[in-house]
Amino acid sequence: MREEFLDPHADVDETVEEGGLRPRVLHDFVGQTELKEHLGIILEAARRRQQAVDHLLLAGPPGLGKTTMAGIVANEMSAALHVTSGPALERAGDLAAILTKLEPNDVLFIDEIHRLSKTVEEILYPAMEDFQIDIVVGKGPTASSIRLSLPRFTLIGATTRTGMITGPLRDRFGLVARLDYYEADELEQIVLRAAAILGIESNAKGASEIARRSRGTPRIANRLLRRVRDFAEVRGQGKIDERTARDALAVFGVDDLGLDKVDRAILHALCDRFGGGPVGLTTLAISVSEQPETVEDVYEPFLIQQGLLARTPRGRVAMSAAWQHLGLVAPAHDPDLFS
Ligand SMILES: Nc1ncnc2c1ncn2[C@@H]1O[C@H](COP(=O)(O)OP(=O)(O)O)[C@@H](O)[C@H]1O
Ligand SMILES: [Mg+2]
Repeated sequence: MREEFLDPHADVDETVEEGGLRPRVLHDFVGQTELKEHLGIILEAARRRQQAVDHLLLAGPPGLGKTTMAGIVANEMSAALHVTSGPALERAGDLAAILTKLEPNDVLFIDEIHRLSKTVEEILYPAMEDFQIDIVVGKGPTASSIRLSLPRFTLIGATTRTGMITGPLRDRFGLVARLDYYEADELEQIVLRAAAILGIESNAKGASEIARRSRGTPRIANRLLRRVRDFAEVRGQGKIDERTARDALAVFGVDDLGLDKVDRAILHALCDRFGGGPVGLTTLAISVSEQPETVEDVYEPFLIQQGLLARTPRGRVAMSAAWQHLGLVAPAHDPDLFS
């Protein structure tokens, strides 16, 4: 999978350990109450009918549990999970090869489904709707097309950008769900659960300190937990409490809101260099040496949710909370007026 590509928060040791931290059953998946309720019903109904689950589209910023949820659906249905991603499916044949290998009720997970090419996406339509694909055999004038039927399978698509999913594709999903940022108490549960799996002792206050600074994101919570664990083992008593968590996160440059270096660089560029904006996404991204898509998908959603930054038709603007957070004085005009 190409998760690392879109998510600069991912690191190698994380990708390896992430597997072990992933909940395997719906019950262990913390938060996202509404989605869990809907899925619980859908899965139970499909099990009773002994049928594949309806196709499912999961949208939301990186690290909120889309891949995890796909694994859970497959596991709960006792079905095999096949994993691929939009950019990995370059030609129609790549997708056809995967589809024709599916067994009844299998789950096919396509990450970054908004990055499918048009030709590949068009193969997907009849596959999703009628469980059929047309394959072209041979080349040139002798080429002919044969229709293959596929077993009933479940497609789970994941995307960081709902806006980039075409209408026809979106309409073919039986359930479109948006994952939201997690509440602090949910992240605390996630941290405590991960600590138990990693075999590091943490009290509730230590876990809550990590949770509070995790940008509402389980992947970041788990990553910060690992950094705090390192710190606790090297500089502390090998246990995580509030003090250790706070000291460790200070060392690793995670501030009180959970903003990391890049988040702060974005706000600094916006306030210092561009006087609070409005400034275009590309200009802003270049000034912090990031891809515009990364800024838009990975960093901005949380900054917006925190009321630090706003997207306006004229560009990005810093909200007064951003100036405050950086310890800067906002210019005389009220930057919130731009929103
Ligand atoms: N609801 C959750 N409960 C517990 N852990 C979670 C939850 N959602 C995500 N995680 C953890 O966060 C990490 C990232 O989740 P992942 O499913 O890879 O996110 P996404 O695919 O949306 O980027 C996983 O290792 C998983 O352990
Ligand atoms: Mg993922």
